[in-house]
Amino acid sequence: MRHNKFAKKGVRISFFPLVKRESVSLPSPFHHLGIWEVRSRSMDPMRTEAKIVLQEGVPVSLHYDDVYFSKEGGWEESKYVFLEGNRIPEAFSKKEISQIQIGELGFGTGLNFFVTLDHWQRINDPPSVHFVSLEGFPLPSEILHSLNLSFPGKPLWTEALQESYTEQRKRWNLDANDMIWKVQIPHQKSPNPQTTFTLTLYLGDVLECLELFPKIDFWYLDGFSPNKNPNMWSPETLSQIRIHSKKGTRFSTFTAAGFIRRNLESLGFFVQKQKGFGKKREMLTGVLL
Ligand SMILES: C[S@@+](CC[C@H](N)C(=O)[O-])C[C@H]1O[C@@H](n2cnc3c(N)ncnc32)[C@H](O)[C@@H]1O
Repeated sequence: MRHNKFAKKGVRISFFPLVKRESVSLPSPFHHLGIWEVRSRSMDPMRTEAKIVLQEGVPVSLHYDDVYFSKEGGWEESKYVFLEGNRIPEAFSKKEISQIQIGELGFGTGLNFFVTLDHWQRINDPPSVHFVSLEGFPLPSEILHSLNLSFPGKPLWTEALQESYTEQRKRWNLDANDMIWKVQIPHQKSPNPQTTFTLTLYLGDVLECLELFPKIDFWYLDGFSPNKNPNMWSPETLSQIRIHSKKGTRFSTFTAAGFIRRNLESLGFFVQKQKGFGKKREMLTGVLL
């Protein structure tokens, strides 16, 4: 592993195993329509392409025909569904906790990561956070950049982060084993210099990545809607979630699908329906008993 100090103060980015690099960017034939395409020379369909169209500034997956976040306000949605749904603000203020592990299914634009990081930076003396996420179809930097335009004034993708993520995506396109992107950010006001927010992002299919997760305290289940993307909600996926949970582990998700509620209950989670974000009637939250 090597470390790379970027110009932006306080951001240390670590790269995992280095292999010989080769650029694989291809122009998208749909570029003029706002569709971006990323291809690798590999035949692995998981690493072949991600097709995205922007609608009102919101990325929409052409694979899954679903949005990455709500058109009614992605930043507020992420706060409502994942931070408040999981009672993260409460956990960040608890003095007796020294480290929190947050697990996410579907890194996408990174919005949930940035919203959580922003909230954490505002707390005076929070615990360290390890934010572990996974992604099978990493987005091109043009789409990541569009996030900055959708949420002006919010601390999102710096150039250094975009560049580093893009490099990792290219490395992974060339070698499926080169699948870990790690970023460590120190707290700006904590009296404890050891207080950090670490992102570990695994690139690959959900089941392959979940096996590598540590025990999680809070899950953000954000893998597109279950009827459009059943893989992210399969019994195997949910059972991996259970394996990487412990008594008291919480989860939240935008979906209120009955079979997801029942399957999580059968794994030992106490599940509740709550009012959903914006026009959404319901969402689910829960805790492992
Ligand atoms: C709703 S989006 C996530 C939104 C994200 N949390 C954000 O803040 O932008 C769902 C994500 O799951 C990813 N995904 C879907 N199926 C997957 C699979 N089988 N394995 C890994 N990632 C997958 C998609 O590529 C997409 O980025």
